[in-house]
Amino acid sequence: MNYRVPRTRKEIFETLIKGLQRLEYRGYDSAGVAIDGNNHEVKERHIQLVKKRGKVKALDEELYKFVVIHNGIITNYKDLRKFLESKGYEFESETDTETIAKLIKYVFDNRETEDITFSTLVERVIQQLEGAFALVFKSIHYPGEAVATRRGSPLLIGVRSKYKLSTEQIPILYRSCTIENAKSTCKARTRRLDSSTCLHAVGDKAVEFFFASDASAIIEHTNRVIFLEDDDIAAVADGKLSIHRVKRSASDDPSRAIQTLQMELQQIMKGNFSAFMQKEIFEQPESVFNTMRGRVNFETNTVLLGGLKDHLKEIRRCRRLIVIGCGTSYHAAVATRQVLEELTELPVMVELASDFLDRNTPVFRDDVCFFISQSGETADTLLALRYCKDRRALTVGVTNTVGSSISRETDCGVHINAGPEIGVASTKAYTSQFISLVMFGLMMSEDRISLQSRRQEIIRGLRALPELIKEVLSLDEKIHDLALELYTQRSLLVMGRGYNYATCLEGALKIKEITYMHSEGILAGELKHGPLALIDKQMPVIMLIMKDPCFAKCQNALQQVTARQGRPIILCSRDDTESSKFAYKTIELPHTVDCLQGILSVIPLQLLSFHLAVLRGYDVDFPRNLAKSVTVE
Ligand code: G6P
Repeated sequence: MNYRVPRTRKEIFETLIKGLQRLEYRGYDSAGVAIDGNNHEVKERHIQLVKKRGKVKALDEELYKFVVIHNGIITNYKDLRKFLESKGYEFESETDTETIAKLIKYVFDNRETEDITFSTLVERVIQQLEGAFALVFKSIHYPGEAVATRRGSPLLIGVRSKYKLSTEQIPILYRSCTIENAKSTCKARTRRLDSSTCLHAVGDKAVEFFFASDASAIIEHTNRVIFLEDDDIAAVADGKLSIHRVKRSASDDPSRAIQTLQMELQQIMKGNFSAFMQKEIFEQPESVFNTMRGRVNFETNTVLLGGLKDHLKEIRRCRRLIVIGCGTSYHAAVATRQVLEELTELPVMVELASDFLDRNTPVFRDDVCFFISQSGETADTLLALRYCKDRRALTVGVTNTVGSSISRETDCGVHINAGPEIGVASTKAYTSQFISLVMFGLMMSEDRISLQSRRQEIIRGLRALPELIKEVLSLDEKIHDLALELYTQRSLLVMGRGYNYATCLEGALKIKEITYMHSEGILAGELKHGPLALIDKQMPVIMLIMKDPCFAKCQNALQQVTARQGRPIILCSRDDTESSKFAYKTIELPHTVDCLQGILSVIPLQLLSFHLAVLRGYDVDFPRNLAKSVTVE
């Protein structure tokens, strides 16, 4: 690694562009770069800003005075814009982001003292903002400085230095302010910055800071990061970082630690695969193993989830479990509901975060609420978490992102350890979330004598999973051939019930997300209540029929479909000679314990959606209109 600091403008530009490219997976539709002028230009107070709609490579050049980089949404921007327009400020776009840039200019133009600091300006600006945002500011008035802040959207600071750092914990400076609006006076009582209140390398040796919403953007430069909390204001000036805030933070932690991430560059590269999604599907033998590593003891048949152990007693005493998520994460909750009910002997509600909030669902202090989220940043899930916290329920995070808002704001949790997931369509996170929830059930039932043989069966099943997943992945060519037959269709139904209903929902979601075909996951038990009307010779129907307690009922559904000249494509167990007789096409899967079968049965549908999307000519990793993490409501 080259630690030469300061870098040339060209190097900085390249670093920023590379970082933006690594973030493209999150599904943004525009990009920009702003760089301080070179030494000569700094004196002339110059910032080069380059921004453009579309992919990162399409960048143009423009020049601005206050530059703001914004991820999120400002909900009150129209009011702010009206106010600023009434003060004579002109706007060039319809974006909420421009309002922030103009607002900081307004605060600056109306400052009461010449020596107002950059972070004070930012502090005043964010007091006027509503919505979710991560912001980084630059200004020609503060050359060589950058100020960053967040509320609701993720933001981290990468720290790189070859020298020893002055501290591993950055103390927070609290400022007591009486700001009513942007013009009012700030009575700052901030301690003076000294070596103990800011971060720099020891002996004035250089240290570099990176602001990013996601560690993928910076991981090739450093794995040492500081996660900012809502309303933290981080300022880099003169090569030193300091953090201050107006109010005490939710965590009440008086400092921010520099953490070391385990992520590696290779984990966020495609390798030999044509898309991240494909790579992530094929990673599942390892990712599910990593989810269980060090937690499931196959010799003693015990499970230990370190992040939950201190709360286990409390969880065992609870009134019910509520499992909340969005999209694929919600499906992981649906997939494991039955086994959780069986192993915990508690009522289990599964909830879509948005609907849970819309209903003002009653939540009590003896409820335990799980929040499932790959990114740990999904706005609806985060809001549902805060809603449950306000009602004093115990909150548990199940996320794939260390340092994410959900993992920080929950009382306890499980990290699913699937490794970074870049493809917008979630695949390996689903199977790891599934296993995490099963492990939780196993941990809860450790003392239940009546459940011991069931627990052992499930634990044996878990042990065999990585090998069985490899067997399923070896069906890839067969699934590709199936995709060749289906890719010109407009619709695709996916039907099943019991333990495999969630697979239908998740399979249909994958198909929708990346192939843009209409697809529906149908509960076979509801077939006669409507979906049967869709069945004819033309409509492709994928049916999941596994050797489990629902087998006979699924056979019944199969007969209903064939009686209407439907041509079912059947996903079934290898030893099932019954179902294949009626099938137009069969994909045979290895058999596992009923409650784990969904981990195997979802993989052919992940592969199918991938091949369909490629055949239809779509960009698998960047489906239109979708984002990897949805940080707005
Ligand atoms: C977005 C993504 C989905 C994901 C959902 C929930 O819609 O495109 O793939 O399932 O958000 O995301 P989370 O990070 O909370 O699991």
